Amino acid sequence: MTETIRTRVAIVGAGPAGLVLSHLLAASGIESIVVDQRSREEIETTIRAGILEQGTVELLAAIDGSRVHTVGSRHDGIELRFDGAGHRIDFADLVGRAVWLYPQHEALKDLIAARLAAGQDLRFGVTVASVEGADTSSPRVRATDPTGAPLEIEADFVVGADGSRSSVRAAVTGAHGGYFREYPFAWFGILCEAPPSAEELIYSNSPDGFALISQRSPTVQRMYFQCDPEADPHALSEAEIWDTLQKRVPGTTLAEGPIFQRDVLRFRSFVARDLRRGRVAIVGDAAHTVPPTGAKGMNLAVADVILLARALEALLLRGDEAGIDGWADAARQRIWKAQHFSWWMTSMLHVTPDATDFDRLRQLGELRTVVDSDAGRAYLAEAYTGWPLD
Ligand code: DHB
Repeated sequence: MTETIRTRVAIVGAGPAGLVLSHLLAASGIESIVVDQRSREEIETTIRAGILEQGTVELLAAIDGSRVHTVGSRHDGIELRFDGAGHRIDFADLVGRAVWLYPQHEALKDLIAARLAAGQDLRFGVTVASVEGADTSSPRVRATDPTGAPLEIEADFVVGADGSRSSVRAAVTGAHGGYFREYPFAWFGILCEAPPSAEELIYSNSPDGFALISQRSPTVQRMYFQCDPEADPHALSEAEIWDTLQKRVPGTTLAEGPIFQRDVLRFRSFVARDLRRGRVAIVGDAAHTVPPTGAKGMNLAVADVILLARALEALLLRGDEAGIDGWADAARQRIWKAQHFSWWMTSMLHVTPDATDFDRLRQLGELRTVVDSDAGRAYLAEAYTGWPLD
């Protein structure tokens, strides 16, 4: 027996994009269902990035029970370090904005709790096989429930917010695929028990490669260093990891402590050629991925769904198609700006394996162009803290 559910908006994926979308739709009186293949525990414990743009924070802070202001911490600047010196990018002074350090999985715990408390139909362990009927007025999601029994969701609109390995994307892009860029490096990330090594995040370009000294809390720190994409996260001893990190932030003595998590993050830039087909749209990582430098991933996902929620309100409450017809183009403008920023931060700060002396010296010239100019620092500050959403 196939269970069939009828709803207005079927959202595949209970990550930031899917959960924020269901929240915004509910605020407009539009019913939705959210399904995710993962368990609630997996979603709430998977370590992702930790920087939220000001607009993302304003939206999250308005959700009941959000801990973004109590557990998260405001950062008014970052440091760019290269050629033996540090240079502060003062967000407050340059653009009057800030970012918050609040780990994505903590934001997800808040969102899941708030959606369940509001009576949201939110189901974990649901595996989506396909989406059909994009060109009709009642697209359908074909899935299986946690027991393996078939489940069909019939909706007025289907949204794929199901990450970079999206099951929904094929219904939108067909064989078109999208635009890709691979990078010849990755990040080796660690979580360790130690106090912060500096007040603000340090993005360091060193002759040995990039390092990022980030934070999580007064007692837990997150750090990354550029590595080979094929690196085995377990091949290095703790002493070798600290040695690598210390060398890449000359001028700072890192506070060391036990490393309790390590991972290698692959880099990829991707934008799907199509973001919508008829009554099916893709958002967040299902639609685009950015390299992690600058932490745009979650923020961009939230921006996609803020625009999409407005378009769906017009479509589903007033029968007005203009918003949804213009949604993909509107979303794409921010997506490509964020793609550019993430690519630019990445290429400016990392050392490619085949870099010549010319490439290295040009890169230092680029970094100096940014930090020596008010306009350069202001561009970085504006993009990092997030372009206003309206
Ligand atoms: C973090 C990740 C990023 O990609 C970044 O630019 C800043 C911080 C983090 O995980 O803390």
